Amino acid sequence: MINLNVGRSGPEEPAADDAVRDVVLSSNELSFWYGDTLALEGISLEIREREVTAIIGPSGCGKSTYLRLFNRMNELIPRTRIEGQVFFRDTDINHAGVDPVELRRRIGMVFQKPNPFPKSIYDNVAYGPRVNGFRGDLDGLVEQSLRRAALWREVSDDLDKSGLALSGGQQQRLCIARALAVEPEVILMDEPCSALDPIATTRIEDLIAELRDDYTIVIVTHNMQQAARVSNKTAFFMVNDNGAGILVELGITEQIFTNPSDERTEAYITGRFG
Ligand SMILES: Nc1ncnc2c1ncn2[C@@H]1O[C@H](COP(=O)(O)OP(=O)(O)OP(=O)(O)O)[C@@H](O)[C@H]1O
Ligand SMILES: [Mg+2]
Repeated sequence: MINLNVGRSGPEEPAADDAVRDVVLSSNELSFWYGDTLALEGISLEIREREVTAIIGPSGCGKSTYLRLFNRMNELIPRTRIEGQVFFRDTDINHAGVDPVELRRRIGMVFQKPNPFPKSIYDNVAYGPRVNGFRGDLDGLVEQSLRRAALWREVSDDLDKSGLALSGGQQQRLCIARALAVEPEVILMDEPCSALDPIATTRIEDLIAELRDDYTIVIVTHNMQQAARVSNKTAFFMVNDNGAGILVELGITEQIFTNPSDERTEAYITGRFG
């Protein structure tokens, strides 16, 4: 069995009681199709405020697809279809009255490969606030966002330098700063460290631990050690006999990795499949 170091370098506080944490994101009997292909089937899941929820599972089980449902990124792909509901707090986000642009401001996203704009570090961070018509102290907001992303000290003298001139790990922290600059409530991260070396990965994991106090974070990761280190809750997805992604179980991370309720989760975390 893999040593997951649960409890040693994991979140310091015990996972909070669900009774005191509001549900921020949820899905209800959610199914999703790419064309005629069922990619997700019947997923009901609740994600709570100011927790890190990790989504793990084998390649192709629909983790990225599921994450993209929360800020309506999948609708940019032609011939996709949703059944069931996705909620941001009490709002059914696929309801006709919901503005996807505003939704994406409140639910930010960080991708696998760092993708800074070919602009200066300053303009990368200032971009979102400018587009949203921010009227306050932009320099202050850029500095605050870079500080929150633990990048300020490295770049404060080079704000005019291109974002593309930074290292991979710095670029990813710049992308996190860019996401934070529009003051989101939720940050979705799809394998944010998979293109990074171990040192840069540790810095992002440390950053996630800090951001957890102020934001609700959902992180897709292939790396079970990472899920164990950074998350309060873990959701395990797999592919069912129809070839569709399903939720097997969601639980407190330590419990999922030490004493899962479902034998399929146990088989996965002990390396017997996937
Ligand atoms: N744009 C797309 N068009 C059609 N099918 C897609 C598209 N994106 C994903 N799929 C299919 O949907 C299923 C789930 O894919 P998804 O990328 O969500 O899985 P994943 O769990 O994130 O995998 P990985 O761990 O490899 O990133 C797969 O069968 C995939 O081939
Ligand atoms: Mg993926």
